[in-house]
Amino acid sequence: MTEALGAKPKRILVTGGTGLVGRAIQEVVANGEGRPDEEWVFVSSRDADLTSAVETKALFEKHKPTHVIHLAAMVGGLFKNIRCNLDFWRRNIHINDNVLHSAYECGVQKVVSCLSTCIFPDKTTYPIDETMIHNGPPHSSNFGYSYAKRMIDVQNRGYFEQHGCRFTAVIPTNVFGPHDNFNIEDGHVLPGLIHKVYLAKQNGSALTVWGTGKPRRQFIYSLDLARLFVWVLREYEEVEPIILSVRHNQGRWAVQEDSQQRQAQALPPQLPVHALQTSCEGDLHLVQHQLRQC
Ligand SMILES: NC(=O)c1ccc[n+]([C@@H]2O[C@H](COP(=O)([O-])OP(=O)(O)OC[C@H]3O[C@@H](n4cnc5c(N)ncnc54)[C@H](OP(=O)(O)O)[C@@H]3O)[C@@H](O)[C@H]2O)c1
Repeated sequence: MTEALGAKPKRILVTGGTGLVGRAIQEVVANGEGRPDEEWVFVSSRDADLTSAVETKALFEKHKPTHVIHLAAMVGGLFKNIRCNLDFWRRNIHINDNVLHSAYECGVQKVVSCLSTCIFPDKTTYPIDETMIHNGPPHSSNFGYSYAKRMIDVQNRGYFEQHGCRFTAVIPTNVFGPHDNFNIEDGHVLPGLIHKVYLAKQNGSALTVWGTGKPRRQFIYSLDLARLFVWVLREYEEVEPIILSVRHNQGRWAVQEDSQQRQAQALPPQLPVHALQTSCEGDLHLVQHQLRQC
């Protein structure tokens, strides 16, 4: 029917389809965002190890996608990033190169990859916008993950310049939502805090919150991000990455400082205290220039 009317059906492959963001996209697509001319395929590492060029190519040849949302990545919280910078760099570079090159070879019309706010320069001016990604080194604590993410933008520009490909990327602020990683050491800040509160309540013990409490961050709910992802896939035609965030004056959240708690807590001796929170002084404040113009 859609073909008869001239609309070409889309087959959209979502890598990282079992993660926090991938499951949110699954949910919004299943509950109203999906269209009849779209077939959505969500894959995980069980379908293919994307660090392998052979497995990645086989996955693309099997599904023959016209569009790709590329979420798959080695993702972790602060401590895992500090411990494994080399692993984050190598695994993510391999995954991204395999996915983007397979997409090119299979004639995919559009790829939307996922960057992260921690890729921005450590020393910068605020507010941050999309033009500032490569203006200086990222924070040293997670340089492996950050540089690997930045290279997606470099590759997207290369594929456009050499082959005319419409490969782009989004930059979401911190994401939270169902299916998050609640591991205290290796997960993200909000689920980590929820887990700590749960344990403190269950055990009747003191609640320890890392950090000074001064920096502030922007957060986006995974289902809101999922809807924006679908919009970017359908409507955003630029190669330049686009920040997906709440408006500057909405939804910012601060860890309140409590000096008594801070004195009471036992901090890991060698590790920086919540370096992502202390990696910039004050607010990590992003504005989405591109989104405003659309
Ligand atoms: N969460 C955040 O706050 C946040 C913020 C900004 C940007 N991002 C970006 O958003 C994207 C999704 O993040 P997320 O939080 O949803 O991640 P996640 O929950 O950790 O999920 C990671 C996904 O990647 C897949 N994956 C990992 N290694 C793979 C491999 N070698 N081959 C194939 N698949 C592999 C996993 O599959 P399995 O389930 O099979 O392991 C899983 O589906 C990532 O690119 C991340 O960098 C996340």
